[in-house]
Amino acid sequence: MPWDLDDKDVCEYKVDPSNPDSIPKFVDELPVPKVLQPTKVLKSGAYYEVKMQQTKQRLHKYFPKTTVWGYNGTYPGPTIETLKDRPVMIKWMNCLPNKHFLPIDRTLHAAIDSPEVRTVVHLHGARVSPDSDGHPEAWFTQGYRERGPSFSREVYKYPNNQQAATLWYHDHALGITRLNVYSGLAGFYIIRDQLELRLNLPSGKYEIPLLIQDRTFNEDGSLFYPDGPAQPIPGASPSVVPIFFGNTILVNGKVWPYLNVEPRKYRFRLLNGSNSRTYTLRLSNGQKFYQIGTDGGLMETPVELDTLTIMPAERADVIINFSGSKHQNIILTNEDTDENTRNVMQFRVVLPLSDKDTSTIPETLYPLRHLDQNMAVKVRNLSIDTVIDRYGRPLFLLNNKMWDDPVSETPEFGSIEIWNLINLTAFPHPIHVHLVQFQVLDRIPFDVQHYRDTGEIKFTGEPVQPRASENGWKDTIMATPGEVTRIIMKFDGYTGDYVWHCHILEHEDYDMMRPLRVIKSYNT
Ligand code: C2O
Ligand code: CU
Ligand code: CU
Repeated sequence: MPWDLDDKDVCEYKVDPSNPDSIPKFVDELPVPKVLQPTKVLKSGAYYEVKMQQTKQRLHKYFPKTTVWGYNGTYPGPTIETLKDRPVMIKWMNCLPNKHFLPIDRTLHAAIDSPEVRTVVHLHGARVSPDSDGHPEAWFTQGYRERGPSFSREVYKYPNNQQAATLWYHDHALGITRLNVYSGLAGFYIIRDQLELRLNLPSGKYEIPLLIQDRTFNEDGSLFYPDGPAQPIPGASPSVVPIFFGNTILVNGKVWPYLNVEPRKYRFRLLNGSNSRTYTLRLSNGQKFYQIGTDGGLMETPVELDTLTIMPAERADVIINFSGSKHQNIILTNEDTDENTRNVMQFRVVLPLSDKDTSTIPETLYPLRHLDQNMAVKVRNLSIDTVIDRYGRPLFLLNNKMWDDPVSETPEFGSIEIWNLINLTAFPHPIHVHLVQFQVLDRIPFDVQHYRDTGEIKFTGEPVQPRASENGWKDTIMATPGEVTRIIMKFDGYTGDYVWHCHILEHEDYDMMRPLRVIKSYNT
């Protein structure tokens, strides 16, 4: 077995970054992204400047350095931390080269005539005004020289007027989001509040964010991203692929890292930052863990779990108690048939307890205001379907509409709506709505063929309650195949132009994204 070797042995062992079987696992310590200090603190809030830069980083001890893109030149980007209601301003600056190092599909509309390297930053899960949301057409190039049609400001304002939560910022440029995020443009953004601080959860060095992503490498250690499906597409080369799965797993920018831990409780903020891959996580010793938070913040009560499924962009705040696992090496595993991607990272319970563990897993965490179905003024039926494009490629669509089609989701400011996510395809899609946090009502099996024929929903079974791990504020939800996933949300905070989309980035870029316009209420 290539792993468990010490340095001397590995020197004799040929590591080929393109062959995951040859890559020793758990030889790099897990990095924890640095917390970014503000450039200045103004009366109006903390002001940051963040540069997107190309850099070279060692992603595995035995790899040559890999060219990546990073916020402030690091992948993952620095973590931004703030208290609730304390405004943050960020000047996002594009200092990237003019050429992309990954293959661009020029058949995707925005990529036809726009500059090749364009960026825009979205703070995923945040309630912000439209001009700071990172609209896909608010992109800009190096030095803001060229700007997309929706560009309106250089400095984004984040009021942080929402409950404590694990958010993340990432690129959102139209048509190349999958490439920009894959290159490394992602980071954590953590909002804290007094209520949470009073709960005495594991904190400080015992609170660690984990960004989980899959990647594939070329032999020379550079990032590999397909320039099209295995079967080349005439007229579309390079071409977008319908889905992408990497053959290695990185956590916080290291391939299969390990973390030395003390025999005590730790809080991990899990984020699936992968393009397409869904993870079903489990601890190799069978140990249970506790989920305390979802996308939008802490849950009402902790949930005891032995497995946890997270789709791209979903977050889960969990506590693992290592106190009964002294001297064990525990692997965070992923349910998978592949030997390699079955591993995520390793916890080694080898550190001495530096102090008594006084942190707790409180029985009740945070009050949750359940949105009432009877208060909904509108129910929208939104299909998820696939067609074939003019090159013979699959094209996934929301409500059979392309990105460029006129806006159809126009909720009134302050109103509560129920969205029926009607998945007609054969697999799940992580559906994300900007601006809001929503709740999952249930999932109801329906007759797919009947819907195709008539456009009517015929339910074929009883509603299935959301999974325990979904009982809280969500901004991204698994829309399961053959079921209507019903979500409820209130369009609060701002009016204006946002988006909603599938968070499989290969789908989002082509064309599984739709405008969302929150309009002024007629009654006020
Ligand atoms: Cu995390 Cu619109 O995206
Ligand atoms: Cu978002
Ligand atoms: Cu999708």
